[in-house]
Amino acid sequence: MDYGNDEKSAVQARADAQKIAFGPIMFQAAQSLRSLGILENIQDNENGITLEEIANNLHLSVYGIKVLIEAGLSMELVYEKEDSFFLTKTGWFLLNDELTSVNMNFTHDVNYLGMFSLEESVKSGKPEGLKVFGKWDTIYEALAELPPTIRKSWFDFDHFYSDVAFPEILPIIFKFNPKNILDVGGNTGKFSLKCLETNSTVNMTVLDLPGQLNEAIQNIQAAGYTNRFTGHPLNLLDHSIPFPEGYDIVWMSQFLDCFSKADVVELLKRGKKALNQNGTLNILETYWDKQKFDGSTYSLHATSLYFTALANGCSQMYHYNDMLEMIDQAGLMVVEVHENIGISHTLISCQNKHP
Ligand SMILES: C[S@@+](CC[C@H](N)C(=O)[O-])C[C@H]1O[C@@H](n2cnc3c(N)ncnc32)[C@H](O)[C@@H]1O
Repeated sequence: MDYGNDEKSAVQARADAQKIAFGPIMFQAAQSLRSLGILENIQDNENGITLEEIANNLHLSVYGIKVLIEAGLSMELVYEKEDSFFLTKTGWFLLNDELTSVNMNFTHDVNYLGMFSLEESVKSGKPEGLKVFGKWDTIYEALAELPPTIRKSWFDFDHFYSDVAFPEILPIIFKFNPKNILDVGGNTGKFSLKCLETNSTVNMTVLDLPGQLNEAIQNIQAAGYTNRFTGHPLNLLDHSIPFPEGYDIVWMSQFLDCFSKADVVELLKRGKKALNQNGTLNILETYWDKQKFDGSTYSLHATSLYFTALANGCSQMYHYNDMLEMIDQAGLMVVEVHENIGISHTLISCQNKHP
């Protein structure tokens, strides 16, 4: 066997296998090093700090600090010199990098317990892990009712990626001076608000579940844009309900990854019908095969499993070719593609193949 021309030594491969075998334990150690303030204590002491000093500062036992810091040595979060501990570069990112922090909170608060049901979810095609929070079919129905910490970690994760992308998107979207935009899965109205602020005449419509839509309406009201905003509460999985029509732009941001391939095709068809003659349907997504960095691909592969075990049991972060296939099946054609938007997004603009 050539193992796909794998040049890794057997010793290295075996060590990597152990990182997976003990992964969840080490994740919790990293989380504790962060949340108990141990990494921060180390960072604050440029000349290094001993176990006893950390234990004293944080009112924790030397034993507790010792086992966590030793795990930190193995994870290369800290290093030791003459009985004192210092942060490594990875430790610095774990403590200070917003992207890492958002991802860790999402993993810890939203996913950790439910992931135990991943295997069961794969077998049943249902998000079995969602049971740890309550009885719902999908996490989207649950969002408005989740405990505040979990809700915050979910929204921080969702918004972190789209917030960075939106400023780059606006000039592309407003190039043709759209009058009416339909934001499908518009969530708490962040994108709609950006559009309403950017352009003084555009009208925005948001479709979403009642829980998210209520928050969107409140946010739009607070910003004083009610006269150019309409919200329709609905379950978009009911494909018998048509979208409202007459839009220059149909906008789907970080939305289609919430649905199975069959549902994506139906949603695209309904979006197509909502378009005016020359209107465009715009899809903003992160595709795992389009990433510049290994860390991004790794994160997207992991995020797919959140969809499996927690969100809905049937969707994922798609491969770019999956999306092209679904666009074609819905009777749409790609007219423009913008890559490397925000942290990791691709924007695909489509039009009706047979207007
Ligand atoms: C991942 S969020 C994306 C939000 C926003 N578009 C963005 O870019 O940040 C997906 C949105 O789709 C909505 N959604 C998911 N399933 C839905 C359904 N069956 N009916 C209505 N909305 C749904 C969720 O409530 C959520 O607001």
